[in-house]
Amino acid sequence: MQLPFNPRKNLRQIFATPLGSFEVPGAAELMPKIARVVLAKEKAEKGMNRSNKGGWHSEDTLLNWKELEFADLADTFRSSVAHMIASTSGFAKFNVDLTMSAWANVNRAGAFNSPHIHPNNHWSGVLYVQAPNLEDDPFEKAGNIEIQDPRGPINMVRSPGQKDALSIEPKQGMILIFPSWLLHCVNSFSKDVVRISIAFNARINQFQVIKS
Ligand SMILES: [Fe+2]
Repeated sequence: MQLPFNPRKNLRQIFATPLGSFEVPGAAELMPKIARVVLAKEKAEKGMNRSNKGGWHSEDTLLNWKELEFADLADTFRSSVAHMIASTSGFAKFNVDLTMSAWANVNRAGAFNSPHIHPNNHWSGVLYVQAPNLEDDPFEKAGNIEIQDPRGPINMVRSPGQKDALSIEPKQGMILIFPSWLLHCVNSFSKDVVRISIAFNARINQFQVIKS
């Protein structure tokens, strides 16, 4: 027999993964100023080795950099986290105590970031400070961030329309934010350009709903 089908009654989407996307106001003016600070730091400091392969990864103390105070990044990143907590928890008003950290990434031709998660955090995100146009780069999906499907066994058998990953082209001034457990990587590119991003982590220490 043919079954009647009403998506609202007969279908539930379960275990959705939240991905937030924001545009920083005034990015066209602000981002080049941030880029100058990051590139000066890159010249002066050795950096760290994490998921970066060939690129420069600063110390994760960026939110304390005096040279970046003008950009108010801690406040901006906290704002994105608060939006995500509100929309996923369903509570509009709350007090939250967060531990935040951030670092800069500078990738040139050939550099990439291998697949990774951000352990011991709740929300992780990235701000694109300098996102060169890589549409005509010979590398596939050059410079994109790739977010893997977190449903582990889904590749056991392929379903029609199934995609392996969500590939996102960075745009200057865009913030992406997602759960820290979500596996992601950054593609390489071949053009002689500089891709600059600032990544951040947020750990929730305390969360209290404000009852009205
Ligand atoms: Fe990451």
